[in-house]
Amino acid sequence: MPLMRLDKFISGQMPSVSRNDAKELLKQGLVTVDGVVEKHYDFKLDPEKSVVAVSGNVITYREYLYIMLNKPSGVVCAVKDKISQTVMELLPPELRRPGLFPAGRLDKDSVGFVLLTDDGELAHKMLSPVSHVPKKYFVRLAKPVPESVPELFRSGMTIDGKEKCLPAELEILSPRECFVTLHEGKYHQIKRMFQATGNMVIYLKRIAIGGVTLDDKLSEGEARLLEENEIKSLISY
Ligand code: URA
Repeated sequence: MPLMRLDKFISGQMPSVSRNDAKELLKQGLVTVDGVVEKHYDFKLDPEKSVVAVSGNVITYREYLYIMLNKPSGVVCAVKDKISQTVMELLPPELRRPGLFPAGRLDKDSVGFVLLTDDGELAHKMLSPVSHVPKKYFVRLAKPVPESVPELFRSGMTIDGKEKCLPAELEILSPRECFVTLHEGKYHQIKRMFQATGNMVIYLKRIAIGGVTLDDKLSEGEARLLEENEIKSLISY
């Protein structure tokens, strides 16, 4: 790992601390490296080997952030938007970092699991049309789902007369509620698949990406870092 300047390390790992704030913390003697007070902002360290603490709190080095957000309705999956609130604006200061973006989209009126990361390689994998990382949704419909629809989804249906979908799984939970698992992400895909059967989606929530399930302790609008095993499970897809 290349060496990194101490002030850059601190501000990079603590998004609410600017480079100048970091220099001030150093000047005040509040920063230790491997247990020894370090006051020089240009001190060089190996981020993966040195133990840095600010006011006694050890900073865990994270090259990339992987964030699970429970998106509410009315918020758009974009970094910036002139009209609507974005998923980035929901993040608490300690989870903000330049370069973060949503690795996959949900419609403005859909809710649930959005993955935010600054790891371009993982994001590419999630967004690539050939990656087929499964995404599971809870769906509520306007009308009951006929028994023939799971087989139609499984067979790889055609939507809007021309777009061929990959096989998808549909598990009926009650007459108007089901789980749907997609292995791709076409524009408004679930809404259009049900529309093609004469039905209409009235509520859509993404509940899992790959092997990672949306944490039911996260209320709508809340976010948390993925745990190590969750990151591994996504990276290994
Ligand atoms: N399918 C949709 O129609 N909308 C979403 O937000 C996700 C999947």
